[in-house]
This record gives sequence, C-alpha cells and structure tokens, in this order.
Amino acid sequence: MLYSQLSLCIFRASVVSPQPNTNWSRSKSNNGRRVGHCTKVSRSVNMENLQSEYLFPEIFMREYEHSQKNPHANLIRLGVGDTTQPIPDIVTKAMAQHAQNLSTVEGYKGYGAEQGNTELRMAIAETLYGNMDVKSHEIFVSDGAQCDISRLQMLLGSNMTVAVQDPSFPAFIDSSVILGRAGKFHEETGKYGNIVYMNCNPENDFFPDLQTTSRADIIFFCSPNNPTGYAASWHQVKQLVEFAKSNGSIIIYDSSYSAYISDYSPRSIYEIPGAKEVAIEISSFSKFAGFTGVRLGWTVLPEELLYSNGFPVIKDYNRIVCTCFNGASNIAQAGGLACLSSQGYQAITNVVDYYKENAKIIYETLGSLGLKVYGGKNAPYIWVHFPGRSSWDVFNEILERTHVVTIPGSGFGPVGEGYIRVSAFGSRECILEATRRLKTMFS
Ligand SMILES: Cc1ncc(COP(=O)(O)O)c(C=O)c1O
Repeated sequence: MLYSQLSLCIFRASVVSPQPNTNWSRSKSNNGRRVGHCTKVSRSVNMENLQSEYLFPEIFMREYEHSQKNPHANLIRLGVGDTTQPIPDIVTKAMAQHAQNLSTVEGYKGYGAEQGNTELRMAIAETLYGNMDVKSHEIFVSDGAQCDISRLQMLLGSNMTVAVQDPSFPAFIDSSVILGRAGKFHEETGKYGNIVYMNCNPENDFFPDLQTTSRADIIFFCSPNNPTGYAASWHQVKQLVEFAKSNGSIIIYDSSYSAYISDYSPRSIYEIPGAKEVAIEISSFSKFAGFTGVRLGWTVLPEELLYSNGFPVIKDYNRIVCTCFNGASNIAQAGGLACLSSQGYQAITNVVDYYKENAKIIYETLGSLGLKVYGGKNAPYIWVHFPGRSSWDVFNEILERTHVVTIPGSGFGPVGEGYIRVSAFGSRECILEATRRLKTMFS
C-alpha cells in the first residue's frame, strides 16, 4: 500500500481532536500552587470516592501524549470504540432534508414529545422488537444509551444495591458511585464496597455463576458485552431473567451491540418469555448506525414492570424524562427513522458487516499468533489475554512498539486485569496495517 494511502486511512480512522488535560488534580500552576478561588462548597463525597479519571478520556490523553512524543508515527486507534465509517447517504439525506425544512415556515418544528417522535417509536417497536410484544409507547427515544444509564440511575435512587458484570462498561459502576450506592474503594481488590461483581471469564464462558451471586436490587447486564465481546445465549439470558424474578430484582439490559450478533443469541432480553416483568432495556443507534456523534438511543420500559408497591416503573420514568430531558434532536430522529426504512436498514447493516469482517481479521490474526483471543464473533471487540501481565504494561508496550492504541482490560474491572481490548471500528486498511504490525511484534 502506498504510504500516502496509508496515512489517509490512518487519519480517517483516527481523527480525534486532542483533548485538553481535564485531569484537574494535575493542572496546577507551575510552582504547584492551586489556581483559582475556593468557594465554601464542599466536594460531593461520592465524587471523592470515584477512582481515577473516566477510562476513555484517559486513553485519549495517553494517545495525545504518545503522538506528541512521536510526531511522525502513524497512530492507529483501535482503543476507544468509536465508529469510523461514513453514515449511508440515505440516512444523512433524511437528516439534511429535515434540517432544511426547519428553515421553512411549514417545516419548522420546535420542541417535540419528550418521549420521542411517535413514528420513530413505532418503527423501533416494529423493526427491532417485531414479535416481542414491545409496544411503541413503552419506547423512550433518547440522546444515547450513556445518558439513559444516568437517567435510570436517577430514577432508581441511591438506596439500591447493584450487581455488574466484571468486566463491564465503566459507566455502570461509575454512575452508581456518583449516586452514592457504592462503599469505599478497596485498593487490594480493585473493587468498591456494596457492589456485587459478577465474574465473567473464559472459565465460566463469560457468564456469571448465578448460584453464587448475591442478590442485588439492580443488575446491569450488557450483551453482547463490552469489553469481552461475548453475547449470552438464550438459555443464559433465561437463567438471568429467572434469577431476577426469584430475587425480585430489576435487570438493566444494555443491548447497544445487538446488531453485531451473528449466531442465535438473543438480540433483546424480551425474546425471553416473562422478561418484561423484570427488565428495562437500553440501546443505541451509535454502533448500529454510526450515530456516535449524531446521538440517538432508546430505552424500553415495559408496562409489566412494577415496584414492590405495585406502582408501574414506566410512570416514574416518564416523569424523569419530562423533567430532566426535553426529547432527542428532531434531526437525529429523522435519521433514526431513515435507518429503519427497508433501504436504510440494509445500508446500515452493510456497515455493521464491514466492521464484523474487521473483527474476524483481528481475531484470526491474533489467534494465529498463539495469543488467547476471545469475542469478535458477536461484537466489534476482541478480548486478548496476556496471563500474568498487567493490562497497562501490555497497552504501553503495544503503543510504544507498534503505535497501535488498544484499551487496557483492567479499566473495565478487576477481572479484566491481564487483558486488552482491541476495537474493530476502523477502516479495512487500518485494520490490515494494525494486524501486520501486531504480527511483527508478537511473532
Ligand atoms: C455497552 C455500552 N453502552 C452504552 C454506550 C454508550 O452509547 P451511546 O453512544 O448511545 O451513549 C456504549 C458506548 O460505547 C457502550 O459500549
């Protein structure tokens, strides 16, 4: 490949504006004195309890520092799982048309329904939950799954106990800590008190042993899982639903990567009979349609889900959405609707297939080098084990020797120590170049 082509693909796959140093504890003036004025407001004890920076800005910072040190290196970013490929034009045309209409008297629209545009809610219900008895009024359109995680946390309040997969997407634990549900952080174990960590590793097929899992009010469960790339089977999700039912718990099921499922694993928890009585599902157009920057997601609040006093959870969620959110951008919603048209759906599925092929290339290349490789089949993430090594050491060594950015598995929980996650969200050229460099390093 021509060098110029390669730099172009690397540039495309990796454009991230350098983040300012947001680690304020580091940002003191030259002589170490604090900059600014102290108010009389004390810092929240929950914020004080949070460990380190949020994982992804920390990775951006390391990337930035590396590129400053190595200005001529062609960095390939397979770390933070951001999409890189263009959104199909059938979708962008619908957004452009909607934006254009806003410039006309007839087409102008202001606030929409807080819960989302009815047509889009119906399209999500029909296209993605066809035979699962999910009704359009149970779907709340949002500005993304991450924001919905926090809104759900606010809904359920700070007195709840929480269980999470270990490893898991950091927002589940971090937002629980911010709300004050966690006890102190224990350096020796890498865990917060009062949080039930459900180990997911190759020994248990990345599915927790529910027989030994303590009861929690809320169970965060992500399938396909970020970071392991593992999707729970129908029987495993059924076990999870039964576990929640027998314990009187609520599952918050994150299906943001369901479009990547290639086998018979359920794409939604509502494929399991009875799940509507115990589960809320959050999902997103981010990885499904390249909307990481456009911002669109949804949450399903089934009418059958009740509090211990019989009050429907959906009513409170509606209250939260009306009070704390004013509805998703109408331009983004026009794009979401276009994604669910038959032509739009085909076009976005082609992009998902492209990333799936990338994942296969990474999985097979790393596997052929004798590394212990997991995931990649039902998710755009490959989870690689380096037994006995620290994740950050492996991350740093790969970055120094190949200029490929990955993510240290320990950032997703203590069980992730010794692993790194490699993202398949890149152009094909970048993926091939990254695997070539990794091959040189590991063979
Ligand atoms: C498991 C999981 N949930 C939620 C999100 C956030 O999605 P969104 O872009 O819709 O906020 C991500 C993003 O990477 C994720 O991996």
